Amino acid sequence: MERNRIKFEFLVHDLKVPLAVIEAGILSLLHKQDKYGPLTDRQAKVLERALRNTIVTRTLVNDTLEIGRSTEGIISKTRFNLSALVLGTLVEILDLNDHEVAEKVKQSVTLPEFKNNITQRGIYLEVEDALWEKELLLDESKSKQILRNLLTNALKYRKSRVDLKISISGNHLQIAVRDDGEGIPTDYHQRIFECYFQMDAKNSSCVRGHGLGLAGVQVLLEDMGGQLFLDSDVGKGATFLVKIPF
Ligand SMILES: Nc1ncnc2c1ncn2[C@@H]1O[C@H](COP(=O)(O)OP(=O)(O)OP(=O)(O)O)[C@@H](O)[C@H]1O
Ligand SMILES: [Mg+2]
Repeated sequence: MERNRIKFEFLVHDLKVPLAVIEAGILSLLHKQDKYGPLTDRQAKVLERALRNTIVTRTLVNDTLEIGRSTEGIISKTRFNLSALVLGTLVEILDLNDHEVAEKVKQSVTLPEFKNNITQRGIYLEVEDALWEKELLLDESKSKQILRNLLTNALKYRKSRVDLKISISGNHLQIAVRDDGEGIPTDYHQRIFECYFQMDAKNSSCVRGHGLGLAGVQVLLEDMGGQLFLDSDVGKGATFLVKIPF
């Protein structure tokens, strides 16, 4: 690995410790009030928000390191259920905006209950019962990162709904993330996968993000031997379909 990149990744790596200390501190104040003193409702809300954002930062740090690992072609496969992947990813995303909804989604026991809870946020899931419970052998953190980035984009650009369809085709897991937003003109279908490219960067000052998500998704997918297909056009929403071999 190039020396400068090692230095950069080492720096990102070392962010993990102070972040863990911040997280543990907030957790103590929130959950050990007998020891640290009682909190008012407003204080607890501020701390909960700080905690959520600390968790987001931790996830981003881990993702950065994961992309580095991926560039070196390191894959670590584990066994996990599709339900755990989808539920875990959605809870993480929903928690950023609405902790209560995220908690409710997290408590879902059955597939219909889970579907119903996410439908309330305009997310529609289509998956067969047997697949939902299926054990996968894949790189879990890469799979999660891919799904999280596609869902975050879809939720950011949708008008009112996001459709998540998961299926098996041959020896591939297929995940389609569809939104009903403005869509992506065909001229941009290649460019949106370049680092730092954002279609609407010039005409909107409120765009959040860095134009790195899709570039990262591509790197991770390539290493997993997967493929990505984009079906979109102006005014037609966008469907990102990923195929990952088992
Ligand atoms: N579902 C979508 N609908 C419309 N445009 C999209 C969609 N997904 C991505 N884009 C376009 O592609 C660009 C690149 O997406 P990408 O995920 O790489 O970056 P980002 O979402 O802007 O920022 P980041 O993911 O780094 O937070 C976006 O800025 C947007 O212009
Ligand atoms: Mg993005």
